[in-house]
This record gives sequence, structure tokens and C-alpha cells, in this order.
Amino acid sequence: MLIIIIIILAYLIGSIPFGLIVGKIGYKTDIRDHGSGNLGGTNTFRVLGIKAGITVTLADILKGTLATQLPILFGVEINPLLIGVFAVIGHMYPIFANFKGGKAVATSGGIILGVSPFLFLIILITFFIVLYLSKYVSLASMVTGIITIIVSFFLQNTGLIIITSILTIFVFYRHRTNIKRIINKTEPKIKWM
Ligand code: G3P
Repeated sequence: MLIIIIIILAYLIGSIPFGLIVGKIGYKTDIRDHGSGNLGGTNTFRVLGIKAGITVTLADILKGTLATQLPILFGVEINPLLIGVFAVIGHMYPIFANFKGGKAVATSGGIILGVSPFLFLIILITFFIVLYLSKYVSLASMVTGIITIIVSFFLQNTGLIIITSILTIFVFYRHRTNIKRIINKTEPKIKWM
């Protein structure tokens, strides 16, 4: 029973639409009506600027990290990565925002931060190297997902391999339109790097 409560809580935490909250309260703007229409940190950067972008990205990361702490808080023995997956599902399909959420990147990163700060550091480095070289946030997100699986193999952690594979499938699935735009060369590049 406690496990069900933890799963629901993780989903609800993931469902908090920080992009929507920051945009509407701070800027009277619904970011879903602008830019890529995505309810994530990247689109917040694009539409509302660096301060809002960093705020939403950090908050979305923290949702994942917080979800991984729920088993400890409730004293239940279950893989925290697995609970984190439900926060990512909430982030992608938030009950508080008509089930139209983000693309699984920041919250997935937060899960990794919650269980392995070392892997999170590798994720960050990979992300910024690919971003610097390509100028595509979406491509950096997807490549980072693949690298995370590869590193999990080297760490010989079966749970980590399975969960990072699931998260990377989420990331690719949610980036379908970005993939088409990258192929068509219409995906917007970042200008500040
Ligand atoms: O984290 C999402 C990012 O990879 C792409 O976002 O708004 O450019 O579709 P966006």
C-alpha cells in the first residue's frame, strides 16, 4: 500500500508544471503558446529568458531528485530509480496541466542526481559538450541519454541500465518533432554558446 502512495506522490511531484507556474505568475505568459510550445526549461529560456529558464530547469531537476528520496522518507525498500520514473511520467503527462508536459530531460537528470551525483556530472559534461558542438538542445538531450546508458553498462549496475534505457526511450519519444526538424534543418539553434 505504501508503495502505491509513493508512486502516486512521485507522479504528482513530477506533474507540477513549473514552466507554466513561472510563466503565468512571473511573466503573465503561457509558454505553451510560444516557441516550441513545450512546457520545459529550454522553451522557458527561449520565451522568457535566462532567469526564468534556469529557475524552471532547476525546479524540474529537483522534481526527479525529490522523487528518488521518497522511499527513504517513507522507509520503504524499493529502487529509488523506479520511483523516479513515475515523476518523469508526471513531468511528461502532468495531471495539473492537461497532461501536456515536458520532454523528460531535466526530471530524468534529477533522478540520476538523486542516486549517483557522479553519473549526473558525466551527464552534465556530455550535455554541454554536445550542445557546444551542435547548438541543438534537443540533440544534446538525446545524445546524453545514450551516453548515460553506455556509462551505466560500465558501472555494471543492472537497475541503472534498465532505468536509463527507459528514460532515454522517453526522451527520444518526446523529441519526435525535434528529430524531424533536425533532419529538415529547421530545428532552432541556441545563440548564446
Ligand atoms: O529539454 C527539451 C529540449 O531537449 C528540447 O526542447 O523546446 O527545443 O523542443 P524544445
